[in-house]
Amino acid sequence: MMAGEVNVGVIGGGLMGREVASAFGRWFAINDSNVRPRLRAVADLDPKALEWFRQVPDIKLLTADYRELLADQDIDVVYVAVPHNLHERIYLDVLEAGKDLLAEKPFGIDLAAAQQIASAAQTSGRFVRCSSEFPFFPGAQRVVSVAQSGELGRILEVRSGFHHSSDLDPEKATNWKRQSAICGDIGVMGDLGMHVCHVPFRLGWHPKSVYAQLQKGYPERPGGPCDTWDNALLHTWVGCDDAEDIPLRFEMKRMAPGETDSWFIDVLGTEGGARFNTKQPRTLWLFSRGNEQQWKRVDLGFSTAFKTITGGIFEPGFPDVLMQMWAAYFAERDGELGDRFGCVTPAEALASHHLFAAALQSQEQNMTVELT
Ligand SMILES: NC(=O)c1ccc[n+]([C@@H]2O[C@H](COP(=O)([O-])OP(=O)(O)OC[C@H]3O[C@@H](n4cnc5c(N)ncnc54)[C@H](O)[C@@H]3O)[C@@H](O)[C@H]2O)c1
Repeated sequence: MMAGEVNVGVIGGGLMGREVASAFGRWFAINDSNVRPRLRAVADLDPKALEWFRQVPDIKLLTADYRELLADQDIDVVYVAVPHNLHERIYLDVLEAGKDLLAEKPFGIDLAAAQQIASAAQTSGRFVRCSSEFPFFPGAQRVVSVAQSGELGRILEVRSGFHHSSDLDPEKATNWKRQSAICGDIGVMGDLGMHVCHVPFRLGWHPKSVYAQLQKGYPERPGGPCDTWDNALLHTWVGCDDAEDIPLRFEMKRMAPGETDSWFIDVLGTEGGARFNTKQPRTLWLFSRGNEQQWKRVDLGFSTAFKTITGGIFEPGFPDVLMQMWAAYFAERDGELGDRFGCVTPAEALASHHLFAAALQSQEQNMTVELT
């Protein structure tokens, strides 16, 4: 094996499983990664999903039985992207097999499953992280560094959100993400929630209380009923060391008119503000207080944390930040992340579930729920 080579297996070769093959397929575009990941094995129940992976050069095993993949001694890291009702069983099996794990959110269908996964991750001693790629946009990372710098003054307000319009069309067929039995009672919070918690949690902004407004979408679609929450507004207070509590609103929507896939973070303070939205993927907005109220637009271009061959003037996109997330995963696994932004930890994924469980309670009782 070449120095730095890492053999990866994928369980769940659907939408996200294929993105991993794509990221590894052009890994040579990254200049400063010390690893060379190779996608060696894929497990999926659907033969058509498996068939797609035949075109991936390094593949040696395609199987319907993920246990066969886990029995392969050559596999170092396993990525799992399966429906939420399967997270707990499969993540625990991966850890039991002695593999490192990068796995999809929400890291368990509910709080109880997330607790099992977090505790297995800790006792296994394996390197475990949860997938959340949007904070790897350069603009998002600049919002983090500006927020950490203290130059915003007293933080007045934070909004962290993810807006889709994926459920606005009533003719769109149903799928497992619209059914609580498979997606989870937390619905859209399981679908989009980890993405909006990653940056605030990493900045140390953990909610002390939550008041939730949850809305459902269409109860029937072609192909069957839908019963999940589709939109979620979580109004929280977060505690801050040596500072006043901050109102932080988490917004997760699958019915947001005009929005295709907009992940955003806004941080406003008494001295300044910072704002990034994937609608403008290379653009950072910075506010500074003065005689005139002023928002400055900065075109950041391709200033990713892991340098690539791509010219600095170009704009980054979804496949690029997915690669950046994987580069961060491998670097941290090797103890080489340094001060760069890292992937979601099992503890952060568990904290998101505490928030979502409290949000369900808040909605049911129409009251503010305290988090301990
Ligand atoms: N990070 C992101 O941006 C992002 C985006 C979409 C989905 N996701 C997450 O990824 C996960 C999967 O979502 P998706 O959109 O890829 O779903 P998908 O339905 O496209 O793919 C899931 C795949 O899992 C396979 N599968 C089901 N049971 C299996 C089993 N027992 N063994 C092996 N394979 C099995 C299915 O056949 C399917 O191919 C979910 O946790 C979801 O929340 C993350």
